[in-house]
Amino acid sequence: MRIAVTAASGNLGAEIVRATESLVGKANVIAIARTPPKAEHLGVEVRKGDYTSKADFDEALKGVDALLLVSGMDDPSKRIDQHRNVIHAAKDAGVKRIVYTSVQGPEENTAFSPIIESNRHTEEDIRNSGMTWVIGRNGIYIEPDVDYVEAYRKEERIANCAGDGKCGYTTRPELAFAYARMLTEDRHIGRTYNLHGEPITQNELADYLNGAFGANLVYVPLTVQEYRRERIAELGEFMGNIIAGIYEGISKDAFNSPSHFAAATGREHQSWEEYFGGLRV
Ligand SMILES: NC(=O)c1ccc[n+]([C@@H]2O[C@H](COP(=O)([O-])OP(=O)(O)OC[C@H]3O[C@@H](n4cnc5c(N)ncnc54)[C@H](OP(=O)(O)O)[C@@H]3O)[C@@H](O)[C@H]2O)c1
Repeated sequence: MRIAVTAASGNLGAEIVRATESLVGKANVIAIARTPPKAEHLGVEVRKGDYTSKADFDEALKGVDALLLVSGMDDPSKRIDQHRNVIHAAKDAGVKRIVYTSVQGPEENTAFSPIIESNRHTEEDIRNSGMTWVIGRNGIYIEPDVDYVEAYRKEERIANCAGDGKCGYTTRPELAFAYARMLTEDRHIGRTYNLHGEPITQNELADYLNGAFGANLVYVPLTVQEYRRERIAELGEFMGNIIAGIYEGISKDAFNSPSHFAAATGREHQSWEEYFGGLRV
């Protein structure tokens, strides 16, 4: 069985390539990338695939049995058609199984909701594609908070508009562990899984970061308006709005859903004690 993974030059796609080759061997995994040289380091066959080009995927999906589609990064209004390029090419190429990395979050009334809506559209396209399918709805990556720890330290605080909301975070390696199984095991066909670990508050996140990095961070709640203003000043209008929408979603419990990680993998998601224990300096 030959398995292709899109966006393989990115962090998640690369992790999924590695996790999948550990199950089926390098010879059976194809890395598809918009920028192929950025995926060469993976040591598997690399093919070109830009979501804006169905022709790229008509070529890239030749001889592929199962496809992992990593959700795109473009403006949500453009993503649905970009994903359709891949789905239609997969169908035309005779791909039997398609697995999609969707996302959890607030389906309405936040600045993040258009992204959730576009993911739900792609989920429907995949369910109606005629191929067998599996969908994962990813929790929020925890790695960016770890990468951001020095910035938090300078301010001695984590400040955002999540309030007391709990967030089901995850890590890319844990997601990859799940997707490799969703690609290769038949029992997942037709299932939609929420993929995340134990949901935690921002206060708990600060405690874990303090324990791992010897920091003294406190959590400071901001209003949505305050946080949006701050994020837009740092990241610009588009990304600042999205980030504020994500944290508003956390405050509304939109990332505090039951996790199906164990059903997708046969084991529990890594605990936060173990994850942060491994980062201890
Ligand atoms: N759950 C979360 O917390 C969270 C956070 C951020 C994003 N996401 C979603 O998760 C996805 C993967 O995350 P990641 O960590 O792997 O992000 P990443 O490291 O930034 O990688 C993004 C990947 O998307 C590829 N890409 C962008 N536009 C493309 C296009 N038109 N056609 C084909 N490939 C394209 C990039 O290719 P190039 O190398 O050519 O640029 C890159 O491989 C993202 O695309 C986004 O939808 C989730």
